Amino acid sequence: MNNSIYNQLLSKEAKLAVVGLGYVGLPIALEFARKIKVVGFDINADRVALMQKGIDPSNELESNDFLGCDITFTTSLDDLKDVNFFVVAVPTPIDDANLPNLKPLLSASQTVGKVLKKGDYVVFESTVYPGCTEEDCIPVLEEISGLKFKDDFKVGYSPERINPGDKEHTLQNVVKVVSGCCEVSLDEIAKTYELVVSAGVHRAASIKVAEAAKIIENTQRDVNIALINELSIIFNKLKINTFDVLEAAGTKWNFLKFSPGLVGGHCIGVDPYYLTHKAQQAGYHSKVITSGRYVNDSMGFYIGKQTVKKIIAQGKHIQDAKVLVMGATFKEDVSDIRNSKVIDVVNELKSFQVHVDVIDPHASSEEMIHEYGIGLVTQTGNDYDAIIVAVNHKEFISKNEDDFKQLLKDQKGVFVDVKGIFKNQFKDLEYWSL
Ligand SMILES: NC(=O)c1ccc[n+]([C@@H]2O[C@H](COP(=O)([O-])OP(=O)(O)OC[C@H]3O[C@@H](n4cnc5c(N)ncnc54)[C@H](O)[C@@H]3O)[C@@H](O)[C@H]2O)c1
Repeated sequence: MNNSIYNQLLSKEAKLAVVGLGYVGLPIALEFARKIKVVGFDINADRVALMQKGIDPSNELESNDFLGCDITFTTSLDDLKDVNFFVVAVPTPIDDANLPNLKPLLSASQTVGKVLKKGDYVVFESTVYPGCTEEDCIPVLEEISGLKFKDDFKVGYSPERINPGDKEHTLQNVVKVVSGCCEVSLDEIAKTYELVVSAGVHRAASIKVAEAAKIIENTQRDVNIALINELSIIFNKLKINTFDVLEAAGTKWNFLKFSPGLVGGHCIGVDPYYLTHKAQQAGYHSKVITSGRYVNDSMGFYIGKQTVKKIIAQGKHIQDAKVLVMGATFKEDVSDIRNSKVIDVVNELKSFQVHVDVIDPHASSEEMIHEYGIGLVTQTGNDYDAIIVAVNHKEFISKNEDDFKQLLKDQKGVFVDVKGIFKNQFKDLEYWSL
């Protein structure tokens, strides 16, 4: 038997498994399955049942994307026993105290540990702090399998860069960072990923470097957005439109184009906490990163409060006010509501006894109730005092001032345009944006 894992995969003598088939795992599993033999493993039987029917439970892929793939979807450990290359793509969330919750990752490491054999490869894709793969995951693999890291099995780390809802930056056309635990493993892992990433791979100097690279990509974005959010609070006080300022400043060649907004989801708003946690363990109390987190985490409450002020300024009694919040997901044109900061806007309004309706054509009301105790309306009224366009879903941004006026009491009221999409388009409504 050829001892290059890459050659074995290519000749289908060996199988690759993806453990965790969510936003990250499913696309990579299907892409590999066009070239090599793949097992798609997940602990969620309902999701696996959908994938077996060619349906992506995360609503990102079409049924066509499942065609021509050599893949078995399973929840059974038995199906992993003859696998030689494992890719782990399970969630890495934070807990209520904003600390890393490694439970899914350690549990997936146990799963792999149970079926690990001499000569196998494990590549982690979940976003983690530098050191997590070697300090937290590999000991579990060794303990459960009874095998020795490097001597018996190899490990790598390859972070994911896909962006839900983004059809332009895909797995195939964005360079992927890969790393290994030695020169040979790096080469094998790099060649394996090159099978599916046409843009090519970047061979990182070590596993820790690859982990750190991913975490700073999102931390950099978070801190930059926080700066712009803070500027928008300042400009609001100075009665200057932030988007006008950004447009003007953006004409300079090296001005970075970030815009204010709610920072939700399970990447940008979460990953920096992994880094600050590790920094703290290393004896450094991060200030810039945590300040950015503080500002971004406060924006939902800020938007809620500004809306209340505008309603009161119109001479309304706030406890009788009705507000329509348009959009509940963490970003535009996706169905994912996890860690959506729109909920902070809603809760802030409710804390003033305002009646709030939330509408979202992409999100599920059951999931909203389950996650936040807030259901969605399917029918909007025509007596709102304010409208907040919180998420730029295509269904919302195609509307104009007249459409929104139909929803407001006496066709008058406050219009909050969180992302500044309708700037300079309204003449009658009390317009406000970040
Ligand atoms: N979603 C993104 O845009 C994105 C982008 C880059 C990186 N990431 C990172 O990739 C990782 C995965 O994120 P995601 O968005 O795909 O998550 P997800 O929640 O969409 O999917 C995770 C899947 O893993 C399964 N799972 C959970 N525990 C498991 C276990 N122990 N064994 C097997 N399966 C298990 C779940 O049932 C689910 O199907 C995270 O670390 C995330 O930070 C995500």
